[in-house]
Amino acid sequence: MAFEDFKVRRYDGDLDRARVELLERRCEVGPSQHVFLFSDTMGDPISRIRNSPLYIMLVAELDHELIGAIQGSIKVVTMKDLAKVGYILGLRVSPLHRRKGIGSSLVKHLEEWFIGNQVDYAYMATEKENNASVSLFVNKLHYVKFRTPAILVHPVRSQPLKISSKIEIFKINEEKAEYLYRRYMSLTEFFPVDIDKVLSNKLSLGTWVACDQGGRDQFGQNGHFPTNWAMLSVWDSGGLFKLRIGKAPASCLMYSKVSKLIDKVFACFSMPSLLCNMFEPFGFYFLYGVHHEGPLSGNMVRALCNYVHNMARVAVDCKMVVTEVGSYDERVRPHIPHWRLLSCLEDLWCIKALKSEERESFNELTRIPQTRPLFVDPREV
Ligand SMILES: CC(C)(COP(=O)(O)OP(=O)(O)OC[C@H]1O[C@@H](n2cnc3c(N)ncnc32)[C@H](O)[C@@H]1OP(=O)(O)O)[C@@H](O)C(=O)NCCC(=O)NCCS
Repeated sequence: MAFEDFKVRRYDGDLDRARVELLERRCEVGPSQHVFLFSDTMGDPISRIRNSPLYIMLVAELDHELIGAIQGSIKVVTMKDLAKVGYILGLRVSPLHRRKGIGSSLVKHLEEWFIGNQVDYAYMATEKENNASVSLFVNKLHYVKFRTPAILVHPVRSQPLKISSKIEIFKINEEKAEYLYRRYMSLTEFFPVDIDKVLSNKLSLGTWVACDQGGRDQFGQNGHFPTNWAMLSVWDSGGLFKLRIGKAPASCLMYSKVSKLIDKVFACFSMPSLLCNMFEPFGFYFLYGVHHEGPLSGNMVRALCNYVHNMARVAVDCKMVVTEVGSYDERVRPHIPHWRLLSCLEDLWCIKALKSEERESFNELTRIPQTRPLFVDPREV
């Protein structure tokens, strides 16, 4: 098939909503043959990017049949300096039309939209084992393997988790959270300049701080902070879409980084007590902006994670607490409760410079191993 046989255009909700959902049902993203993690976008296929400052969805059409789709969002983040980045997600090509150049054409059209919006770098995340995707981006479109953060997943148990009585946990307001993030995390890779928008989004449930018991009153007073403390924020991903484990490939819709858990979830089927209720649609909390200061702050990170787990226990439909941390944040990983079996220890991020003048700093960026923590934006989960 030649390129001109199919047309790439903007997604039109009225025309395409049902057809995109059908395409999703036809596209399996993971390797499992038997069990699928379905996602219900609650009638809004664009829901994943809707919270980003600028976004687009493109579809590929052939003889009035919708055969491919892709989504992209743009924001300004910290890289070496501030940079405009375009995130690529939701690439799907109908199984009957693969290896005909449709996937690469969709990516190229999205890159053109990025370039028209002065984007410096395009990036995407994929499962390391997704050969088609890695080969398309790396071999065909010259993306470079960049970072391999870990997705840590903790199922919500019926019993509350213990929190040390020596640790005090309290919620801070958006203004204070923004101040702390800008002060302590603004040099973190991919830190979004519009952190205030993230914090004020209705899906952001709040920001919590942990410190030694009694430290709350003094916390941040006159710029003074205790030696050991930690903070994190919580995003209610279930407010955007639900997940469900299903056996039949009547639908094989898998969205988000959580989709990478699928085989591992299957491997867990010997644990029915925990998973049996996951056949019904469920939501999850995503922890973002995990930051800690001081040599003993690891325990505070753990206390905060346990606190969020206990919040999730009483939330409607929330069955998992998920976070994603860069390889540089190894120090904090052991303190984040997770099941190795359900977690993805190497999510692959690939990146490409879209402006020729960025090439030099790009080479520098990709050559240097990660020397700073990574901020994973909850809007891109
Ligand atoms: C990944 C996907 C979008 C590729 O779409 P596509 O239209 O088949 O891709 P293209 O025809 O443009 O392929 C371009 C190149 O990608 C690579 N590629 C694509 N499919 C491949 C496969 N199954 N195995 C190995 N390489 C593959 C090849 O290098 C190919 O070039 P070639 O055909 O000249 O050898 C499609 O397989 C798909 O929808 N998969 C399920 C959803 C998914 O995994 N999405 C990616 C999430 S990040």
